[in-house]
Amino acid sequence: MPSMARYLTPVLRNRPVADQFYELEFHWPAAAPAPSPGQFLTVRTGQTSVPLLRRPFAFSRYDPEDNSARIIYQLRGTATAQLAAKRPFDSLDVLGPLGHAFPLPDYDSRPILVAGGIGIGPVLFLARTLISRGHPLTPRLILGARTRVGLPVLLEQEYGEVIACTDDGSYGCRGSAIDALQSYLSTTSIATGSGESVLYLCGPQAMLAAGHRLATECGIVAYAALEQTMGCAVGACMGCAVRVRSREQYARVCTEGPVFDTRMVDWERSGA
Ligand SMILES: Cc1cc2nc3c(=O)[nH]c(=O)nc-3n(C[C@H](O)[C@H](O)[C@H](O)COP(=O)(O)OP(=O)(O)OC[C@H]3O[C@@H](n4cnc5c(N)ncnc54)[C@H](O)[C@@H]3O)c2cc1C
Ligand code: FES
Repeated sequence: MPSMARYLTPVLRNRPVADQFYELEFHWPAAAPAPSPGQFLTVRTGQTSVPLLRRPFAFSRYDPEDNSARIIYQLRGTATAQLAAKRPFDSLDVLGPLGHAFPLPDYDSRPILVAGGIGIGPVLFLARTLISRGHPLTPRLILGARTRVGLPVLLEQEYGEVIACTDDGSYGCRGSAIDALQSYLSTTSIATGSGESVLYLCGPQAMLAAGHRLATECGIVAYAALEQTMGCAVGACMGCAVRVRSREQYARVCTEGPVFDTRMVDWERSGA
């Protein structure tokens, strides 16, 4: 498991970026291991025992120049409401980086990144990382939301070529991120199974399963970052186990994941 540690670190900024979505920026200690796209951290959001458990969030950005990191989170319940109340200079209790990162594509592979809902953070981090490292093929980024107000206002040039879509057609193409992926693949040579593309998926489980099926049909490799509800987040409780196609039958999302080659996940038996 990659090394990780617990830090009390100051909040730098906390701002709304879409309906019910916030971006939290905080100092990332110089002594801490550098996070990579796909990895996550856990946050103790309150001062009391409510909520009892630390909450996992994926890194959405890391800037080594000024030692800052970010997450994008959706307001859901107690912990995320406590996060939304954080102000600059408040202390943040974080543990990370945790889990395995996305494997980076070969130099001559075109990365296609697909995100829905809370899956947006890791995908933006990956796109930015590939561009800053000078990956020769611009990442294609497909972002889905229910409606226009659910799409973060972060879609600057730095994220490559972006296709946005909404379920109700209020912004971009109408339909899901997987519909947009299907139509993109059908209009490119990528669907011929040339093996020159690699798919990165992050979002709800049903979206990941659909992305896996499409990748299989098109003969392209896909990686998915899973978002299983977690207990300890460090491999001790088995609370995050998913069914996999291996002799062990189960894998822990927090330590063996959260990123998996989608061929490894038993999507039928994992309920998607
Ligand atoms: C590896 C990993 C990375 C994550 N990255 C992000 C991220 O970048 N941004 C983000 O907004 N969220 C992310 N999550 C989900 C996040 O941890 C939960 O949204 C958060 O714990 C909710 O806490 P809460 O107390 O506000 O809500 P709770 O009261 O705990 O839950 C409110 C509602 O959200 C549902 N919920 C809680 N956790 C999850 C989950 N993991 N998956 C699906 N539904 C859930 C619950 O079933 C409940 O209906 C990630 C989860 C994992 C495991
Ligand atoms: S959350 Fe405890 S083993 Fe993964």
